[in-house]
Amino acid sequence: MYQIHNPYQMMSQKNTTLGEFIIENQGEFQYSSGELSRLINSIRLAAKVVNHEVNKAGLVDILGNAGDTNIQGEDQQKLDVYANNAFIKTLTNREIVCGIASEEEDDFITIKGRNEKNDNKYVVLIDPLDGSSNIDVNVSVGTIFSIYRRVTPSGTPVTLQDFLQPGRNQVAAGYIIYGTSTMIVYTTGHGVNGFTLNPAIGTYYLSHPNMRFPEDGNIYSVNEGNYVHFPQGIKDYIKYCQKEEGDRPYTSRYIGSLVSDFHRNMIKGGIYIYPNTSKDPNGKLRLLYECNPMAMIAEQAGGSASNGFQRILDLQPSALHERTPFICGSKNMVEKAEGFMQSHKPSL
Ligand code: AHG
Ligand code: MN
Ligand code: MN
Repeated sequence: MYQIHNPYQMMSQKNTTLGEFIIENQGEFQYSSGELSRLINSIRLAAKVVNHEVNKAGLVDILGNAGDTNIQGEDQQKLDVYANNAFIKTLTNREIVCGIASEEEDDFITIKGRNEKNDNKYVVLIDPLDGSSNIDVNVSVGTIFSIYRRVTPSGTPVTLQDFLQPGRNQVAAGYIIYGTSTMIVYTTGHGVNGFTLNPAIGTYYLSHPNMRFPEDGNIYSVNEGNYVHFPQGIKDYIKYCQKEEGDRPYTSRYIGSLVSDFHRNMIKGGIYIYPNTSKDPNGKLRLLYECNPMAMIAEQAGGSASNGFQRILDLQPSALHERTPFICGSKNMVEKAEGFMQSHKPSL
């Protein structure tokens, strides 16, 4: 359905680059002042740096020193620390946000603005490297980001309150997938668009305009190894997916990188489930920088996201790193899974 042109055609024909797209669509944003555009531009830049590092991951042992230090005597960093630093440094140096929260940081980071007034309006929440356990085996990983307008007065230091907003307040959200090709997929509340990096020239091109979740699908993605610990509603839903009836049984696909599982499901139609378990009563995935941004993208693409009982974007967060059960994907599939969850409410 989506056609990627060859790199040289891309330059000579009228193919939109991410940079052009950001400028062309700046007006769609109600508070448009260029600040959000600059912010997305910075994420685009940091993503290129991380992409470069991820791509040579397999070479580190071959090219690196025997020890754990690089040529400058610095410790060689694990990729999720590297990615964390790359995003934080880019956003900090360009002074376009007033605060950052990251999976890799215990607390949020306060950033001083570019001028005396210190009036930057946005906070960013980020999972710098999602699915990092897949790095060692050359499987796709990602980055997830979420952007809000601060709620406390500009010019004052950010507070926890600026980060603990329900997901429906997000002004933009997106992910980068470091896969067989590298893509940025994001939304500012006007649909979802995907851009593929042409590594030969370091430019992202609009390759997946107006991405839509098929309303139905036949893929379910869940770590079935945890089956015995799942709530009864999820066990029943899995049995439903496996039953021979109509278009079922569905296909099971689980990469173990939320970004990659989500990306495939959005293109092909499917559902991703990370439920609460008897071991992890709130599930594993983090509400603020994993579930909320993916939920916004899902909804903007016509899909949906739920914890089994409530819309993810309506949950009121109470801590930076809080977790939530997560059911996300094609609308009709999520609705079905919610039905199973809700018929077993007492077992939660
Ligand atoms: P992260 O690498 O940022 O900690 O996230 C890993 C997450 C998510 O990407 C993935 O879907 C899930 O953990 C996999 O968990 P299991 O290994 O428990 O299935
Ligand atoms: Mn993650
Ligand atoms: Mn991570």
